[in-house]
Amino acid sequence: MASVRWAVVGTSAFALDWIARGITTGSNAMLAAVVSRDPARAAAAAARCGAPRWYTSIEAIDRAEVDAVFLVLPNHQHAPQAIAAAQRGLHVVVEKPMAPSVAACEAMIAAAADAGVMLAVAHCMEWAPPIVRAGALIADGAIGEVLNARITASFDYPPGGAWRQDDTTEAGGGPLMDMGVHAIDAITRLLGPVAQVTALLERRRYAYAAEDSATLLLRFASGAHGTVMANFTCLQNELEIQGTTGRLLSRAWWGRDFAGDLRLQRGATEEAIALEPVLVYTPQIEHLSDAILRGVPPVTNGGRGLAAMRVVAAAIHAARTGRTTDVA
Ligand SMILES: NC(=O)c1ccc[n+]([C@@H]2O[C@H](COP(=O)([O-])OP(=O)(O)OC[C@H]3O[C@@H](n4cnc5c(N)ncnc54)[C@H](OP(=O)(O)O)[C@@H]3O)[C@@H](O)[C@H]2O)c1
Repeated sequence: MASVRWAVVGTSAFALDWIARGITTGSNAMLAAVVSRDPARAAAAAARCGAPRWYTSIEAIDRAEVDAVFLVLPNHQHAPQAIAAAQRGLHVVVEKPMAPSVAACEAMIAAAADAGVMLAVAHCMEWAPPIVRAGALIADGAIGEVLNARITASFDYPPGGAWRQDDTTEAGGGPLMDMGVHAIDAITRLLGPVAQVTALLERRRYAYAAEDSATLLLRFASGAHGTVMANFTCLQNELEIQGTTGRLLSRAWWGRDFAGDLRLQRGATEEAIALEPVLVYTPQIEHLSDAILRGVPPVTNGGRGLAAMRVVAAAIHAARTGRTTDVA
């Protein structure tokens, strides 16, 4: 197998314009099929992105033609569809967040282990240029010992009947499950695991079922402090990491086809770090395809997706009880 044959499951613009594009531009990946619940939508989607086949369910996929599925589905569908795919012997990538509950994430990991297939979570900001460079600079000691960090990932999302708004936070809706997990995954990649969380989850602007505003106060296992803000009320895209000898600053750490922005401040000097633009979904699919071809776990494996969801679960508990909560 020189290339992994992928089926994209879901027919949103994001699935077809971004994930399918990542697969077709990946050097070791090919787009074999599209899956939609509706046959006409499946056929149209396959034609639109050049996939030779289409199916109407995971169960209908021809295993002789497809090696792996990329699940681009509402959050409440991640666990059942991932488990169904694993049980058919298909390698699985599930979009972030892994699943709305820790128990569902654990069930996905068990199903993939039982079936002997790869399970990955599409934490695509692993390949975001500001995050990659910030990680390298911290590892090189460019800012000394990390003391604290602040990260925001938000956009304005007026009510419109989407599942992200109509599902409660516990069911997978809202900004904490949406952009919040990108921020949690990115900041834990840079600062290590989170030990404790205090949180506010509130409706500040829009009256849909999910809370539209999430603010988390973190204590990392290292002792560093941090904050995460994820809102559906305004556009936010900032990162600041303070060390004992310097500071990293970004005013664009997340994006899709982008270079972003990163500055290194030491004393009175501030240096702009040169970054190359990346379509993050291309290195993502190349890494995941390589993991399948070589039979090794990907960096964005199920354990990493679960780690982000343990922080989310602790944040929900903290917000509901008003108490600082240990990350289990
Ligand atoms: N990493 C990133 O950069 C990024 C960006 C955007 C979204 N995402 C993630 O991708 C996932 C999907 O988001 P999206 O924006 O593509 O969502 P969406 O626009 O709601 O699309 C969901 C797709 O799922 C299919 N589907 C299957 N079962 C469904 C059900 N019970 N209800 C509704 N749709 C169902 C639908 O296709 P058919 O009707 O044709 O079956 C639909 O096209 C989410 O987990 C989200 O967090 C990630």
